[in-house]
Amino acid sequence: MSEIITGALSHSGIAQNAAAYYSARVREFGPTPQGADWNSKESQALRFDQLLQVVDQSKSFALLDYGCGYGALLEHIHGKGCNCAYTGFDVSAAMLEHGRTAHGNDPRVCWTNDHDALCPADYVVASGIFNVKQDTPSSAWHAYALELLEHIDGLAVRGFAFNMLTSYSDPDRMRNDLYYADPGVIFDYCVRNFSNQVTLAHGNGLFEFTVLVRKDPGDDS
Ligand SMILES: C[S@@+](CC[C@H](N)C(=O)[O-])C[C@H]1O[C@@H](n2cnc3c(N)ncnc32)[C@H](O)[C@@H]1O
Repeated sequence: MSEIITGALSHSGIAQNAAAYYSARVREFGPTPQGADWNSKESQALRFDQLLQVVDQSKSFALLDYGCGYGALLEHIHGKGCNCAYTGFDVSAAMLEHGRTAHGNDPRVCWTNDHDALCPADYVVASGIFNVKQDTPSSAWHAYALELLEHIDGLAVRGFAFNMLTSYSDPDRMRNDLYYADPGVIFDYCVRNFSNQVTLAHGNGLFEFTVLVRKDPGDDS
């Protein structure tokens, strides 16, 4: 399998760099939170719980995990007993290999690095894909992030959710290789471009914020 995605992203060079970065992480640390660049299993799970608030879990649903890593979210969902058809999409072939190895026989699960082959799902979630910009200038990374959000929006039928590092992080703890987004700017972009049902959750102790974008028609009764 090719290491990188090809296709419509105009910022595909950035995605290639991300693939190389995360493939190296998972080769070094294996299919673990550290392998996905998280500090702990607890913080990884906290992010999942926050993102899954966009999902109506009382019904069966199709979920696209955009930047799925080695598939930790799938294990998290299984632990909750949700009725879910899951697609894991990632730029890193090394990450996907771990997902396939662990869940390759499940008929309700598929894994892909083919950006152009993705089909719309009820919900799309993206945990951690906007964080590590490496040496990409922040302005270019911001444009890339908005392009990814447009792509995610086009794939999400009922809603989507994502997280980003916050520009309100403690200055002495901020790093040059990470991207810190202005939550107000991202909230405004989502309301103007995607849906007026947008929830911004800031201050979870992780120097991040989570955005939930719902598209379900409101109750007009
Ligand atoms: C911080 S890791 C998190 C993985 C997983 N979401 C989790 O929480 O365990 C980010 C993942 O997103 C993937 N990724 C980064 N940019 C991407 C992009 N543009 N498209 C698809 N996957 C991407 C990386 O390869 C990596 O596996």
